[in-house]
Amino acid sequence: MSGLRIDILTLFPELFESMQTVSLLGQALRDGRMEIGVHNIRDFATGRHRVVDDTPYGGGDGMVLKCEPVVAAIESVRRPGGRVLVLSPRGRRLDQAVVQELSGESQLVLVCGRYAGFDERVLEHTGAEELSIGDYVLSGGEAAAWVVSEAVSRLVPGVLGNPDSARCDSFSGGLLEHPVYTRPPEFQGRQVPEELMTGNHAEIARFRRAQSIRITAARRPDLMARFEAELAERRDAEAERDRAVLSEVLDAKDRGDGTRSC
Ligand SMILES: C[S@@+](CC[C@H](N)C(=O)[O-])C[C@H]1O[C@@H](n2cnc3c(N)ncnc32)[C@H](O)[C@@H]1O
Repeated sequence: MSGLRIDILTLFPELFESMQTVSLLGQALRDGRMEIGVHNIRDFATGRHRVVDDTPYGGGDGMVLKCEPVVAAIESVRRPGGRVLVLSPRGRRLDQAVVQELSGESQLVLVCGRYAGFDERVLEHTGAEELSIGDYVLSGGEAAAWVVSEAVSRLVPGVLGNPDSARCDSFSGGLLEHPVYTRPPEFQGRQVPEELMTGNHAEIARFRRAQSIRITAARRPDLMARFEAELAERRDAEAERDRAVLSEVLDAKDRGDGTRSC
């Protein structure tokens, strides 16, 4: 039984061929944990030339994607309870919290724009939400749909061999991930931190947690502000250690060497 179905509507279905075969997403599809359907919007256009775009009313650059084929495509794939997301730079910005939310849905319909985007009435008529992958403009929504599919699939139960991997990833716990290392123990004079070689799992976990806090403080003041606010409310044993690391970080910052702490 599949946990999530994603339907992608695009004018360039061939762009998704490799996405469906490689890596974790490909494996999840083969295992039946997820389903992906890719549909060509042009198949829903009528007339001899199957035209999907037209010039904008009021003038301006670029062609606009017409209502009829896009709405017909959405209506043909949408299932009861399905969530329709039009990829658009104007949309709600994707982050790990949004990814988490989307991973709990039964169906996502991802609608990829091209040219100047969609006739506004596509959104009004279907009630679709707009979703952006960041504050920049792509030439089409396909790369954005790929990003959404990859990020969401990692959180579908059973897709990651070890569900703890997602729990420890950057953003999931509000912090960036600690640095990771593999063999050899020394590369061009650079050593793997000795704390990771002790075999003491509790000590390793504490070391990594401290590194996560330091790297987040150095790179992401926005995440750090939220972490500090949450930490003020926490009373668990880990919170005491987190406070100690945080006060070291703040002291280092006062001394002007905060960014070198990780
Ligand atoms: C050239 S863009 C159109 C941009 C539109 N004229 C605007 O300024 O908002 C063509 C298509 O690429 C996709 N796209 C571009 N940037 C995106 C972003 N940051 N996130 C999601 N989709 C994006 C959308 O599907 C959009 O319809």
